[in-house]
Amino acid sequence: MPDRIAHHRRYLMCRPEHFTVRYSINPWMEPARPTDTAKAVRQWQTLYDTYLALGHEVELIDPLPGLPDMVYTANGGFVVDGRALGVRFRVPERRGEERPFMDWFAAAGFEVIEPVEVQEGEGDFLLVGDTILAGTGFRSTGDSHREVADVFGREVVSLRLIDPRFYHLDTAICVLDPVEGEGGVDAANIAYLPSAFDEASLRLLEERYPDAILVSDEDGAVFGLNAASDGRHVFLSPRATGFDAQLRDRGYVPVPVDLSELLLGGGGIKCCTLELRGMK
Ligand code: ARG
Repeated sequence: MPDRIAHHRRYLMCRPEHFTVRYSINPWMEPARPTDTAKAVRQWQTLYDTYLALGHEVELIDPLPGLPDMVYTANGGFVVDGRALGVRFRVPERRGEERPFMDWFAAAGFEVIEPVEVQEGEGDFLLVGDTILAGTGFRSTGDSHREVADVFGREVVSLRLIDPRFYHLDTAICVLDPVEGEGGVDAANIAYLPSAFDEASLRLLEERYPDAILVSDEDGAVFGLNAASDGRHVFLSPRATGFDAQLRDRGYVPVPVDLSELLLGGGGIKCCTLELRGMK
């Protein structure tokens, strides 16, 4: 069994002080169902503390009133090599987040690229080794895949999502070894939920990642794939017990963190985590 090495990560998070479910833009959101903002903050705080306890760095963007989904910072941009591509939300409810995120990147010293096409950042763009996996079907457009390829000068593989519950790529794929240019056993491997993809996308995933962990529908349905990894620790929902066992078999160390309240907004651990690559 390979000895998995933890790699230092720098993340951007947003405390869910204004979290609630007031509109519905994905099948998880039911505005009639009450939410508990204090509980959301407590659960989020546990994730934040867990990242710090394991040696990671977390930057914070101020939550803004009237933008209850801002806690899902993965949708705030896509940051590689010290360059931050901003987002253009498909959903009008979240367009107010676009400028605050771009302003944050600029203030933090990142080169900011204003996007032209509609896309929702790291929710739909995942860096795996040197390749960008890009999701479409619900939120980000196919044209945005061309744009992200131009901006970052990397190979982009387009994947089509077909199940409305898994509307962002980070709800159906978890990047286990998101480290560029590092070899070793299973370098840059992923886990994914096969039933979330169309046939052509599945063929691509099978060819490229023959050693991928295939996650069950049961674990997918509790947002098990919406997990973050440092190459050793995989931060995941405590309800994804099958995925937890699969990870252990491969030498990873699962770190369960419960974000049940934030799941009422259709988001989990990875949605609340944006990786800041390059620049310090
Ligand atoms: N309510 C948010 C939305 O529908 C949840 C975003 C989840 N983010 C993610 N990266 N999957 O936009």
